[in-house]
Amino acid sequence: MRIPVIAGNWKMHKTVKEALSFLSTLRSEPLPGNVETVICAPYPSLPALVEAAEGSGIGIGAQNLHWAEEGAYTGEVSARMLTDIGVRYVIIGHSERRTYFAETDESVNRKGKTALKHGLVPILCVGESLEERESGKTKHVVREQVVRALDGLASEEVKGLIVAYEPVWAIGTGRASTAEDAGEVIGFIRRTVADLYDQQVAGEVRILYGGSVKPGNIGAFLAEADIDGALVGGASLDPESFRQLVAAAA
Ligand code: G3H
Repeated sequence: MRIPVIAGNWKMHKTVKEALSFLSTLRSEPLPGNVETVICAPYPSLPALVEAAEGSGIGIGAQNLHWAEEGAYTGEVSARMLTDIGVRYVIIGHSERRTYFAETDESVNRKGKTALKHGLVPILCVGESLEERESGKTKHVVREQVVRALDGLASEEVKGLIVAYEPVWAIGTGRASTAEDAGEVIGFIRRTVADLYDQQVAGEVRILYGGSVKPGNIGAFLAEADIDGALVGGASLDPESFRQLVAAAA
């Protein structure tokens, strides 16, 4: 039995004050206890959010980290800095970071290893571009990304991480994948994990869909047997819509 995950990715939105106001509204009514609820916020809000989320069951995540333990990497944040303030999750390899900040499968792999070493739960993002989809390369691209991201990881590590399948063309466009297509690719990712490890690992790893998920369409995604939840951008910015997403997964 895999516990569903609803993870909000706020991207570059919300000041500390706005983040705290969101959390206070979200906490005004209890959230279902059987859904792993995560908010991945910009760095400046993380300490305040960790404190404000205490006792709520809501996990706080970062949107990136550096693979090195420490060093001369101006502008970067290490895993130890995140765990030190109580952050528990970290998004790795989001397509916006691959596109705008030159993240590669190799950096994704290094970051994932560092996150796991420090006890952070990586939310590893994979997904094809529109051009790749239209030329029939979706599965090939996604398989390569998964194989490279997991390279060198032990079974126990893979069981504990979260994969997010986010077709690039569906992110922030209002044009979500169909639930059937997302379910098929996510089933394929699970089979890829089974090929690389075994059925038990593949049966335990949580795999989310991301890309224009909203309260109105999440039910269809969650109805797919292999989809364990969602990584949500735009619709995670409003506490009421985020609450509806979490409720749908309960
Ligand atoms: O990480 C979240 C994804 O990029 C999805 O964003 O829900 O705004 O399409 P979106």
